[in-house]
Amino acid sequence: MIISSPEDFHAVARRKLPRFLFDYIEGGANAELTANRNVSDLQSLVLRQRVLRGSEQIDLKTSILGQSMSSPLVLAPVGLTGMYARRGEAQAARAAQRAGIPYTLSTVSVCPIEEVAKDAGQSVWFQLYVLKDRAFMRSALDRARAAGIQTLVFTVDMPVPGARYRDAHSGMSGPNAYVKRLVQAATHPRWAMSVGLFGRPHDLGNISVYRGKRTSLSDYIGWLAENFDPEISWADLEWIRDAWSGKLIIKGILDSDDVQNAILLGADGIVVSNHGGRQLDSVSSTIKALPEIAETANGRLSVLVDSGFRNGLDVVKALCLGADAVMFGRAYIYALAAGGQMAVERFLALVAQEMRIAMVLMGVEKLSDLSADLLAPA
Ligand code: GLV
Repeated sequence: MIISSPEDFHAVARRKLPRFLFDYIEGGANAELTANRNVSDLQSLVLRQRVLRGSEQIDLKTSILGQSMSSPLVLAPVGLTGMYARRGEAQAARAAQRAGIPYTLSTVSVCPIEEVAKDAGQSVWFQLYVLKDRAFMRSALDRARAAGIQTLVFTVDMPVPGARYRDAHSGMSGPNAYVKRLVQAATHPRWAMSVGLFGRPHDLGNISVYRGKRTSLSDYIGWLAENFDPEISWADLEWIRDAWSGKLIIKGILDSDDVQNAILLGADGIVVSNHGGRQLDSVSSTIKALPEIAETANGRLSVLVDSGFRNGLDVVKALCLGADAVMFGRAYIYALAAGGQMAVERFLALVAQEMRIAMVLMGVEKLSDLSADLLAPA
């Protein structure tokens, strides 16, 4: 298959992956209304075409939380990335480092922090959930710090996992899950060999290190469900602010009331997110929520956004509406599944190229020129 667009990796990933993995990444909560709306609301925004403005050197460089980046892009935390490619987290982190942007390692990764940070150093951010097991959280923070990680992404939109109905059908969970996964692996021999066999161990790396014993894929859903903490409140986050001296980003903000709380907490940044439509279905798309949130933030903290982003035009639209950077989740996982580190590098280069072409055609040179004035009424 010829790859010419950042979205071409999707079809390759669908072909290469066993269904339980493809559906896990592709799916959303309940009827997937928000997951779809994230994409369609981005598509429906209208850009202005402005000609003969002589832009020649398009500069995508930026700096977020004191960190310079080659473009306003960040790889989002995605659980189980190491099931999508052999030692997938380490490969994705190296791709981000090569591209000059941050990679965010999920709490529920296959590769443990140390394996990922060893190669990719300071470009790695670490994502942590609010969990019942505070001792785990403390030890994860200590290990992240010891590995040289300076930015913590704290996910707050998952006090309980959303209703992911696809997973029970696909073999990710539900009746006969193990047998379904075996059959799917057998019918995807390239994946079975490269990841299923040579990508081992398939632990939840960070959790195994902490527990001192191996965890398996079947522990994943169970561990998540047992360990999420529905009683958490903003006040509980204060100990995290105290325990973590590095930069702190709160991920999962969709309401401008919550921006004030993040500012009061002393967060350095937020991610406007509905978790890719995987949590509360029927909420707003992130692109619709973004303008009011960015206005409330008013430069007091950095504003990142994710959910529904697939290409360079999507990024340009979010920057016009007040985002400082965009996080890609699914879109880079498709590339990783299709061709590992090199494909993620290619994906990022294609996104940057699309941004540059769009900016020339919009008649702007710098990221700071992108504003809501460059969107036309739909
Ligand atoms: C985990 O964060 C998930 O969305 O499955």
